[in-house]
Amino acid sequence: MTAVAGGFGPLLPEEWEDAAALVRQGFGIPREYFDRSVELFGPDVMRGLRAGPETDRAGQVVACAAVWPMDQWFGGRPVPSCGVAAVAVDPAERGRGCGSALMRGVLEEARAGGAALSVLYPATLPLYTRLGFGRGGVSFDWSAPPASLAAGPPPGDGRVRRTDAADASHLAALRRSLLVSGNGLVERNEGLWSFALCPDGVPSDVYTLDGPAGPEGYIAVAPPAKRRLAVADLCLLSPRAVRLAQGFLGGYRAQVDRVSWRGGPDDPLILLAPDSGPRADARDEWLLRILDVRRALEARGYPPGIVGELTLDVSDSLIPGNSGCFRLRLSGGKAAVYPLPKGVGGSEKAAGAVLSLSAAALATLYSGHKGPGVLRQVGLLRGGEDAMALAALIFSGPAPWMPDRF
Ligand SMILES: CC(C)(COP(=O)(O)OP(=O)(O)OC[C@H]1O[C@@H](n2cnc3c(N)ncnc32)[C@H](O)[C@@H]1OP(=O)(O)O)[C@@H](O)C(=O)NCCC(=O)NCCS
Repeated sequence: MTAVAGGFGPLLPEEWEDAAALVRQGFGIPREYFDRSVELFGPDVMRGLRAGPETDRAGQVVACAAVWPMDQWFGGRPVPSCGVAAVAVDPAERGRGCGSALMRGVLEEARAGGAALSVLYPATLPLYTRLGFGRGGVSFDWSAPPASLAAGPPPGDGRVRRTDAADASHLAALRRSLLVSGNGLVERNEGLWSFALCPDGVPSDVYTLDGPAGPEGYIAVAPPAKRRLAVADLCLLSPRAVRLAQGFLGGYRAQVDRVSWRGGPDDPLILLAPDSGPRADARDEWLLRILDVRRALEARGYPPGIVGELTLDVSDSLIPGNSGCFRLRLSGGKAAVYPLPKGVGGSEKAAGAVLSLSAAALATLYSGHKGPGVLRQVGLLRGGEDAMALAALIFSGPAPWMPDRF
């Protein structure tokens, strides 16, 4: 008999061996990398699904995932989120519902623990879309010949300075401006900082991009190898910082053929590139799950000038508490959210501007990845013109992106 959905829960240290084998089969990740990740993210990060008592593998771990709490920023405010990575099912047990059962356990636990959102990079879409994840935002791999980035002499009132990255707190202070002004970026814990600055376990060299009053950004680079320079992390907060970074990267033109970095769709180095040398090597979409509609809508920020009321009629087949009508009252860049009482026969009394959509479509609207117009065009949302116009304003903002991969 094969494994069926058994017990979900945290993995015990004696089960990490089994989890490491699942992750190796799922992603080709060597044991050292698994151990480094568990050490960086903490011993309580691993979750597993054990085979049920009626199976011949009773109690054995047949699926695992890594989960950790973090804030993800939308509209200038942090929203409690649950990062999910390393979802892997025993190759001998795939296609029998273990992955779905594991993820249901992960989502239920995260919601009960206070997370309003969950975010992951999918290797396969159907598993997650069926669980209510929607497309949340993007992560681009950009690359360019270094000479095509340099745009004239660097600014005379700025300089590039090598800095000690052992303590990332001064980098985190700079990066906070990106979190506040962007959408979708995650506040890094120690593990995410380590992956950002030491992607292969080797520390990058970090340089701050200074103006007259102090750093206006930073750039972290791995040592050049095989005529490529990999930018591990990048934060450019001013036009001067962009010009400093352009000059810095252009300085590698005799050593490397291409410079690569991760960014969003509106990447400053791309927008200010003097020629057409840069290109997108990859564009990955991450998925977002609204775990708690009310908490998620109240936690994020909104454009300050909008005053109005919009009712969202949400359907969620996995989380009953998310199904129903929620009235958003917007003012001062915040939303107060009122679940509407169910009427006779279960239908809610929704009047005024109303949008009807699934939890997955709400995730895509919420993050600002796609506006209401295109969601309605493809049949993922229904609503009248007033509601559409209001939703377009409420969920407007920078395109959501995230350089961190997990
Ligand atoms: C993807 C994976 C986690 C799915 O686990 P699973 O237990 O096989 O999934 P389920 O049985 O619950 O099936 C749910 C859906 O997942 C998808 N799925 C099933 N087996 C799959 C496979 N071998 N590869 C990719 N997707 C698969 C299907 O869409 C399936 O729905 P369907 O049966 O209606 O078509 C598992 O195949 C795996 O470990 N793959 C390797 C690692 C990986 O890619 N992880 C995902 C990282 S985001």
